[in-house]
Amino acid sequence: MDLMEYQAKELFAKHDVAVTEGIVATTPDKARAAAEQLGVVVVKAQVKAGGRGKAGGVKLAKTPDEAYEHAQAILGMQIKGLTVKRVLIAPGASIEEEYYFSYLLDRANRRYLCIASVEGGVEIEEVAKTNPDAVKKIPIDPGSGVDEAKAREIVAEAKFPEELTDQAVTMVRALWTVFVEEDATLVEVNPLARLEGDVLEALDGKVSLDDNADFRHEDHARFEDKAAADPLEAKAKEKGLNYVKLDGAVGIIGNGAGLVMSTLDVVAYAGEAHGGVKPANFLDIGGGASAQVMADGLDVILGDDQVKAVFVNVFGGITSCDAVANGIVGALDLLGDTATKPLVVRLDGNAVDEGRRILEDRNHPLVTLVETMDGAADKAAELANI
Ligand SMILES: Nc1ncnc2c1ncn2[C@@H]1O[C@H](COP(=O)(O)OP(=O)(O)OP(=O)(O)O)[C@@H](O)[C@H]1O
Ligand SMILES: [Mg+2]
Repeated sequence: MDLMEYQAKELFAKHDVAVTEGIVATTPDKARAAAEQLGVVVVKAQVKAGGRGKAGGVKLAKTPDEAYEHAQAILGMQIKGLTVKRVLIAPGASIEEEYYFSYLLDRANRRYLCIASVEGGVEIEEVAKTNPDAVKKIPIDPGSGVDEAKAREIVAEAKFPEELTDQAVTMVRALWTVFVEEDATLVEVNPLARLEGDVLEALDGKVSLDDNADFRHEDHARFEDKAAADPLEAKAKEKGLNYVKLDGAVGIIGNGAGLVMSTLDVVAYAGEAHGGVKPANFLDIGGGASAQVMADGLDVILGDDQVKAVFVNVFGGITSCDAVANGIVGALDLLGDTATKPLVVRLDGNAVDEGRRILEDRNHPLVTLVETMDGAADKAAELANI
């Protein structure tokens, strides 16, 4: 989950990163009230997209009335397709220099990476192209992390000004605490600013949290923007399903992410011969396809109005096909009259004969059993195009 700036700053403050949180406002009146409290402020669009400043979403306001006007202009504005619903009213800072700092997960090298540059500011991507030497990349060993010595190494390598060394070391360590303690995959500060009087402060913050660690962080649920989430995806998440909504008409259920990905391809290809129908979703029910999991999956998929047919593609491995077949039969019984769309089922692998026999014996009017993956994809596409 990606966080908005004000949420990232909340986590920064929690872990003693030098930051000023500011006040979140959802109306121009509230923005004015916040500015009355804070003095000179910057009104900042809160959306999960970069380049807000360039898009006109970050504006300085010297008076409360100006804060009102800027908030009025920024609230409702579209930035990279996202509607601004909140602004952060941040105390105006006297910036002398802008730096860039981030920690991220370096998957390819199975470790973490620190990226830092004293040529910071808005266009770090540009600096990386035109002056790559100014952007330092410092690998971090996941075992040892960022201790005092590593923090000093980072600060020296990044060439932070000498008079800021101690503050920078503290900052680098505090940001590492955010990264580790909150289970983030990205912590970015751009700009990390040197303010008047040689004070270092995080003026912006971007944090991505690792959803796989949600179970360790009940308090992260509050960061979720429930209104922005797709209702089907929200429902799937509630049920613990790995579901992504797409735009097509063929609902997909499979076991294993790899099989589901290739099912999407095969259905898209088969769909070319059937009026261009496409997959409606990604749904990996994983191992152990019990009747309940199958019912939950079907329930989500059948709740998608665009779905005209469903393709259940299961390769029995640890989960045997008879368990899956019982899951499908049980799911259809659980769903009763709410299941109304045709189901094409392809089973293969462990205990396939038994699985197919269970479905044949049940002989459910909505279920068509097809032996091959290509054949089943074709059948599902055909049924979705009627
Ligand atoms: N509190 C502040 N006081 C003064 N100037 C600020 C303040 N916050 C931001 N700015 C200025 O506005 C610029 C853009 O702000 P910020 O980095 O928060 O947004 P952005 O970079 O445009 O958005 P993103 O990081 O999402 O691309 C900063 O580089 C800085 O110069
Ligand atoms: Mg920024």
